[in-house]
Amino acid sequence: MVEKIKIYRGSSDYIVSEELMNSVNIAIALQKPLLLKGEPGTGKTMLAQSIADALGLKLIIWNIKSTTKAQEGLYVYDTVQRLYDSQFGEGDVSDIKQYIKLGKLGEAFVSDEQVVLLIDEIDKADLEFPNDLLWELDQMSFYIPETKETITAKHRPIVIITSNAEKELPDAFLRRCIFHYIAFPAPEEMEKIVRVHHPNIEKKLLEQAMETFYMLRSIPNIQKKPSTSELIDWLQALVVGGIKPSKIKQDLPFLGVLLKKNEDLDLVLNEVYNKTRNKNANSTYIGSSINRFRV
Ligand SMILES: Nc1ncnc2c1ncn2[C@@H]1O[C@H](COP(=O)(O)OP(=O)(O)OP(=O)(O)O)[C@@H](O)[C@H]1O
Ligand SMILES: [Mg+2]
Repeated sequence: MVEKIKIYRGSSDYIVSEELMNSVNIAIALQKPLLLKGEPGTGKTMLAQSIADALGLKLIIWNIKSTTKAQEGLYVYDTVQRLYDSQFGEGDVSDIKQYIKLGKLGEAFVSDEQVVLLIDEIDKADLEFPNDLLWELDQMSFYIPETKETITAKHRPIVIITSNAEKELPDAFLRRCIFHYIAFPAPEEMEKIVRVHHPNIEKKLLEQAMETFYMLRSIPNIQKKPSTSELIDWLQALVVGGIKPSKIKQDLPFLGVLLKKNEDLDLVLNEVYNKTRNKNANSTYIGSSINRFRV
């Protein structure tokens, strides 16, 4: 099972920093899962797609929910279907194998070619979940007692795990991973990311929108800072809405695309209101302008 080491160098639709590229390549070389943390929208999920695209590998995504159990990633034995078939079906139900359905990890193990396996948002599940996967991720193998069969990875998958740090992950699990924290992009890097999605955006519009975006993120006590994906959507809205660059900072159009909490909208509107009031005593104008802030 010796794989020729693959080197990840980024992909055309994903902007990757030198450090992140190194972490990916170290994880691939050491054959350990890469655990990614970072604010929402910092490209954790998309990195797995980028690795798969760049290396020409299939991507298998296991989306974790609060109710997901580790066992589901290995296999599920469909006893209900078997019982149903035994009562109403015509076929032979003694072959249990046909009722074993492999989960995402199982699928990655039996694949004839190496795959990228994304375990997305691992912290959504309960604390036992990562611990329950330690053995399988280490050994790349698991046993199915019902069929007395051992499933062993034909090719060790490249495993990417993302977490939004809703819960701390167990130490034993952390010890087995390469860890990388994706920092929120600085404006220069953000500009490159935005250009991937809006290659033809007008320079002045982008400049004004970026300044406003980072200004909003810097307001203290904001509960949910707008993220990369929200900036990308906002730029789209500004273009579609035909907003003039000079109006962006002043009018904050389509603010609801960036801010998703009432408290944050109020906070920002107050901030802008206070600033503008200091500059200009015409409160009637402010009132009418505030109505336009909401999408
Ligand atoms: N480095 C990047 N290069 C290109 N696009 C990016 C990059 N980072 C983020 N994006 C854009 O931002 C969007 C959000 O990225 P993604 O869904 O991967 O973030 P995430 O970190 O998984 O967020 P969440 O924690 O909410 O799941 C992507 O659809 C992509 O359009
Ligand atoms: Mg994600």
